[in-house]
Amino acid sequence: MAKIVGILNTSHVPAIGKAIHQNLQQDPYWKPFFDGFPPIRAWLDRVKPDIVVSCFNDHGLNFFLDKQPTFAIGAAPEYRSEDEGWGIPTMPSFPGAEDLSWHIRDRLIRDDFDMVTCQEMLVDHAFTLPMALMWPEQKWPVKSVPICVNTVLFPLPSARRCYKLGEAIGRAIAAFPEDAKVLVIGSGGLSHQLEGERAGFINKEFDLKFMDSMVNDPQWATQFSDIDLVEQCGNEGVELLSWLIARGTVAGAVKVVHSNFHIPISNTAAATMLLEPV
Ligand code: DHB
Ligand code: FE
Repeated sequence: MAKIVGILNTSHVPAIGKAIHQNLQQDPYWKPFFDGFPPIRAWLDRVKPDIVVSCFNDHGLNFFLDKQPTFAIGAAPEYRSEDEGWGIPTMPSFPGAEDLSWHIRDRLIRDDFDMVTCQEMLVDHAFTLPMALMWPEQKWPVKSVPICVNTVLFPLPSARRCYKLGEAIGRAIAAFPEDAKVLVIGSGGLSHQLEGERAGFINKEFDLKFMDSMVNDPQWATQFSDIDLVEQCGNEGVELLSWLIARGTVAGAVKVVHSNFHIPISNTAAATMLLEPV
């Protein structure tokens, strides 16, 4: 049976891709962020997940304002890395966990989630950077299932709906008959706003409360509407919806394996949290 072995929630600022390319991990600006990952890599070496189910928001590479699914799932043999405009070097393609993709997709649709099924999907920095941070040699020891959530075209799916999607993904993974250790990723956030009058907005208090809620009150953020979230954590901070999907996949309690929070990386409060079901 498939089993969720961990949840990795992390920010995904494009500049991280350039820092990796330029080997700036020990640079004083970058070190506090990159220092969050050696403990996560030690955990990966020990636990050795087989499959990654990655929840993230596409930034206009596959979907933009012309066609924007609320939720989409990849069901492809591989996912090609492409730059959506930030100039980040691309990475080797990511093999797809096709059987698990189709299984999750079927279950979600039967569970009343109207997923868009993508038999072709390109992946942008939101998918690729967490992978490169976990496996810096960029030889992927896992197969992947990408799951996208709309965070650009309002109204967004509610935080409540995202949590419920996570619960349904968790049930689907638990019902997958093959033996597989699954790591669920939530990529995005925390507070940031890239444009407009509040460009540069960061809300540390909200972020820390949200991180605490991942462990102690996982549905805390489901009280907020999409507009509330914009107010609280910025226009792009709403990417934390991916963290909520990921957290929803584990029904019971979780413990923190490792956590890191650093302001700022580019315009973003950069957070990383590795959680383990208990
Ligand atoms: C930044 C953050 C993001 O989440 C993103 O998708 C693009 C840019 C930033 O802080 O620069
Ligand atoms: Fe983003």
